[in-house]
Amino acid sequence: MTDRLDPIEEFREDHRKVRDGILEITNALMEKDVKKAREVLGQLNVLTGPHFRYEEEYLYPALRKFLGEYVDQLIREHNNVIDTAKVCAQLLSKDTLTDQESKDATKAAMALLIHVSNCDGLAILSERFGQKDMDLLADKFAEARKAGVPLLDWAATIRKKN
Ligand SMILES: [Fe+2]
Repeated sequence: MTDRLDPIEEFREDHRKVRDGILEITNALMEKDVKKAREVLGQLNVLTGPHFRYEEEYLYPALRKFLGEYVDQLIREHNNVIDTAKVCAQLLSKDTLTDQESKDATKAAMALLIHVSNCDGLAILSERFGQKDMDLLADKFAEARKAGVPLLDWAATIRKKN
């Protein structure tokens, strides 16, 4: 079974992509290129949907053995991230932004960046999962990616029902 993905490496690779995307958005906003910022946010929406879903459905429950009820805090943090992403998407839906809107969108993007940094810290704990857990996480991560539900769609439908 060598074709399984590496759940920690893929987890961290997603974070790198999100980090770079967010920085791209803040740069685009600085250059008043709303179209570009919107485009990148759209890519992040697609990328982070399966990531969040995998985290909430499998990774976080598995991390409970290391983190106990702190896991509930992680879920609450996701609520904030989703709300912030919505604000960001709404601001970027216009073709031109006022200075204040641009500032708000940049602030929202930066808030997302902090979450990326926090979330990546979970990798250090995930390294302590045994092979059986690791294989299960790999399969579930792959499953979430295959389903491919973007973040805001997932949040509005599947996540809401849980
Ligand atoms: Fe994450």
